[in-house]
Amino acid sequence: MLHPVAGLIALSAFAFAADVSIKEGIVTAGQAVEVTVSNANEVNEDLYPGAVATNLKIGLFNSNYQYWMCSLTDFIPAKNGTVIVIIPPEMGPSGAYYAISAYGLSNPPPNSVWSGFVVRHVPTQYFFLTNGTGIWTPEDISPLLQGQGLIGLWDADIPCSSYPCAQKCAGKQFPDEHAGDAWTLSSTYLICLKKCDGVKIDYDRIKETEDNKPLATHCGSISTQ
Ligand SMILES: *[C@@H]1O[C@H](CO)[C@@H](O)[C@H](O)[C@H]1NC(C)=O
Ligand SMILES: *[C@@H]1O[C@H](CO)[C@@H](O)[C@H](O)[C@H]1NC(C)=O
Repeated sequence: MLHPVAGLIALSAFAFAADVSIKEGIVTAGQAVEVTVSNANEVNEDLYPGAVATNLKIGLFNSNYQYWMCSLTDFIPAKNGTVIVIIPPEMGPSGAYYAISAYGLSNPPPNSVWSGFVVRHVPTQYFFLTNGTGIWTPEDISPLLQGQGLIGLWDADIPCSSYPCAQKCAGKQFPDEHAGDAWTLSSTYLICLKKCDGVKIDYDRIKETEDNKPLATHCGSISTQ
């Protein structure tokens, strides 16, 4: 688990792009938070020259694994201005683990997961969350989940209110160290995860990754990436 300060240094590497910010340093779970979005239509020009972000998704970034944790909105129109979000109390514990983050997407197909990604906006500073009632589990940082939390490498989208459900699913697959990769079409994790409210899973992407894995993976050895 990295110290939050390491996260702030890592985040500053993304300081070329659009931004989200909040006024408060302390946020109460269950209450409205006003998120200010600027440069809403910006894209990462090096990777997506000429594209325009038409939509945003706002969510939480997590200091435990330095990655997107869960979503607070579905796709919303990419506009400068303010968006109200509510962090569900059950999503996680109180503490300075969270930043609000936003991804920009260009014409994402309805019900797609992360298709159309064009930029990761600069997240807020980590803030202190109060009234969080959730917990961390060891599975949150299992290397078998690719060390990127419960959404894998862009393989799923988990609304924050369903994060505890996803944690339970991860608990069913782990800590059995022979359970194997969580990101296969038939994994215990994925079969369970798809039943959690509002979760979207990118099966095409998972299948593609699975097809491209070394043969040994199909014979039951563990791929850690
Ligand atoms: C959004 O804000 C940025 C930065 O201030 C500005 O460059 C851009 O033109 C604005 N976009 C719109 C659609 O107003
Ligand atoms: C935080 O939780 C406590 C205990 O559940 C509750 O009494 C209090 O009203 C909550 N605070 C806010 C600001 O929602």
